[in-house]
Amino acid sequence: MITILDTVGHSPLVQLRNLVDSDRYDIRLKLERTNPGGSIKDRPALYIVKEAECRGWLRPGGTIIESSSGNFGISLAMIGAARGYRVIILVDPKTTPTNLALLKAYGAEVIVVTEQDDSGSYHKTRIALANKLHREIPNSFRPDQCFSPLNGEAHYKGTAQELFEQCGGELDAVVLTVSTGGQVGGFSRFFREHAPNVKVVAVDAVGSTIFGGQAHSYLLPGMGLSWTPTNIDNLNRIDEVYKAPDEDSFMMCRMMAKHEGIMCGGSTGAGMVVALKLALQGESSKKQRIVCIASDNGERYLSTIYNDEWMLERNLDTTLNPTHLLERVSRLAPYSINPIETANYKPELEYLLDSPSRQYIADEAAG
Ligand SMILES: Cc1ncc(COP(=O)(O)O)c(C=O)c1O
Repeated sequence: MITILDTVGHSPLVQLRNLVDSDRYDIRLKLERTNPGGSIKDRPALYIVKEAECRGWLRPGGTIIESSSGNFGISLAMIGAARGYRVIILVDPKTTPTNLALLKAYGAEVIVVTEQDDSGSYHKTRIALANKLHREIPNSFRPDQCFSPLNGEAHYKGTAQELFEQCGGELDAVVLTVSTGGQVGGFSRFFREHAPNVKVVAVDAVGSTIFGGQAHSYLLPGMGLSWTPTNIDNLNRIDEVYKAPDEDSFMMCRMMAKHEGIMCGGSTGAGMVVALKLALQGESSKKQRIVCIASDNGERYLSTIYNDEWMLERNLDTTLNPTHLLERVSRLAPYSINPIETANYKPELEYLLDSPSRQYIADEAAG
């Protein structure tokens, strides 16, 4: 008999049929919503918890403490419920009522961090408080998604390998959206080692500074950070970086629901804008096989992206005009084709925020 955690992974790969002519364009989505916690984050969350159990970092009766405004926290809450751990998740005022309700339904304790950091977001203040609680609460464990190398390793050993086998080794490009860098770090390492001809394309939000640039606020959920995360340990493995605008991404989400019957989250809309751009520009040569990783489910965003009032209050276009969307897509240009040039690594952060990840590894090495 299997348990709920045995259902993590093995997500389907589906081809788009209506938004583009599938005889000319081969765009596929890997639907990570089929994971039991509803997103791709179940994979690194489960991988990290299992590793922590094996290495003795997480013991029975322990407490998992994490900073997350969305999917990673929900995955940990689900896993904690299934495995009998106390779970504390640090969120911020931008966390949606749906995500808060999910965290609470799984029995997690939720702390809302209201102090902004120097970039105007809550990442650093949330992480610093999570690390402080970890020092204070005995038998607690910090998955530390922004700094733990196990995050990228979960995708390197799991998701990327699974996709490659599913495609029978036949693909030209993979499009990944970025926040902690777990996905793009793990996938880029896998493809450089196993299929170097596959183009690895990273998509950040306009306004985020993972790959440098000008910081400003943005609405895309689950994307962006104010530094290059250490899970992207080698920017040379990434071929191209795009920055997706909020409006184009949300339009794409709504278009996908209406024309493909696929409800997807904002980051998938952003990834799809870029996947479509890559497909259209490859038109003259042979048909490109492009896969976009669809990280979560649109039902989490019914009161935002799929709500006309919410969109109009933010001056976002709610009309569904395929020609209009195609025009926007064709205007999009890569932000960088040499991401190392605009790297925004901040190695001091790991120490300033007192991240426990290095300490875990050091303690283990010391026996
Ligand atoms: C919906 C969604 N898309 C994309 C990402 C980016 O994934 P990663 O953190 O592996 O870079 C996240 C991360 O939180 C997410 O929740």
